[in-house]
Amino acid sequence: MFLSLCVFLLIIAGALVTSNDAGLAVPDWPTSFGSFYKIPPMVGGVKYEHGHRMIAQFVGFLTIILAIWTQRVDRRRNIRILGWTALALVITQGILGGLTVKMLLPWYVSTGHAMLAQTFFSLTILMSIFSSRRWLESPPKSSLPDSGTFGLRNLSLLALLAVYMQLFLGAAFRHGGMHFLPHIIGAAFATVILLWASIRALTGYANVRPIRAAASAILGLLFLQLVLGFGAYLTRVEWGKDAAQPRMSMVATTVAHVAIGALLLAHCFMLAVQAYRHLSSRAAETSLSSDPKAVTA
Ligand code: HEM
Ligand code: HEM
Repeated sequence: MFLSLCVFLLIIAGALVTSNDAGLAVPDWPTSFGSFYKIPPMVGGVKYEHGHRMIAQFVGFLTIILAIWTQRVDRRRNIRILGWTALALVITQGILGGLTVKMLLPWYVSTGHAMLAQTFFSLTILMSIFSSRRWLESPPKSSLPDSGTFGLRNLSLLALLAVYMQLFLGAAFRHGGMHFLPHIIGAAFATVILLWASIRALTGYANVRPIRAAASAILGLLFLQLVLGFGAYLTRVEWGKDAAQPRMSMVATTVAHVAIGALLLAHCFMLAVQAYRHLSSRAAETSLSSDPKAVTA
């Protein structure tokens, strides 16, 4: 949980680099102004760029501890693999961050860096759920039926896909690789899918606490994200297009939009994981075949 919190702060710190146009304030990598350990004067864009690197280093260090600790204390093979996966992701993310600098911020590398950041964040959250007392001590319900193309498990996967698509389209626009229109059309599509999945979860499975919690969070975050998206559009695209320097209002709305986007993605992962844990199509089949009317039909 502590690592997840640090990664969330790191995402905010990274978004501050982009929103303040501070991407190349420190021009070299893996050194900062020629040194591996000296902290440069934290002025102007360097404050954001180097600050981001320092927090990233701390997160990398925490992830090494998490990966090794998981091998020692967790008997579940899948979870031990997740520990190494987290380490692999954070290393790849650090290298991508370095490549953005080396290659002078091409949009596709920055977009990859933005997408991997949120994937890594979601993974750390899932790991804390998998090691929580509730997960370990309360058995899955798995007798609840879920079936059909638009069952909750499929819808939760569709929701993940929709948010990833939005993340890609938003980041590609933010880093100058794509027009804004696809992100707007994507927002309408993602809104429909997220509403569908969370309303289905709340109407069908409100008695399963983790499903209810994830779905309610998705509804709240979606609303907030739409308001912030509109704010980001107004402050950055409409009012701020001729600004000589990023304005406070642009920075605040765009950074908040990135951060809430990360929380939304993580909650979609939670919904999917809980739907797969507690629901099963086999339960649907069993209840159908034990229903005499279903047999005569
Ligand atoms: C765990 C490690 C890291 C995470 C989770 C992370 C996360 C992020 C995030 C979320 C952004 C904002 C993307 C956006 O607003 O679209 C960002 C931007 C950035 N990060 Fe990282 N980062 C990490 C490591 C690094 C490292 C080691 C460097 C090394 C130089 C780095 C360099 C940058 C740069 C230059 C940007 C600005 C890119 C641009 O404006 O085009 N990052 N990072
Ligand atoms: C479900 C709905 C939405 C989601 C999940 C979402 C997600 C995102 C994410 C994750 C980013 C930044 C990616 C990154 O670089 O890390 C982004 C960027 C952006 N989004 Fe959205 N978004 C949504 C809806 C909207 C709406 C409705 C608007 C406008 C009316 C909007 C306007 C923007 C703008 C202007 C940016 C770029 C900010 C910049 O240039 O700094 N978004 N979106």
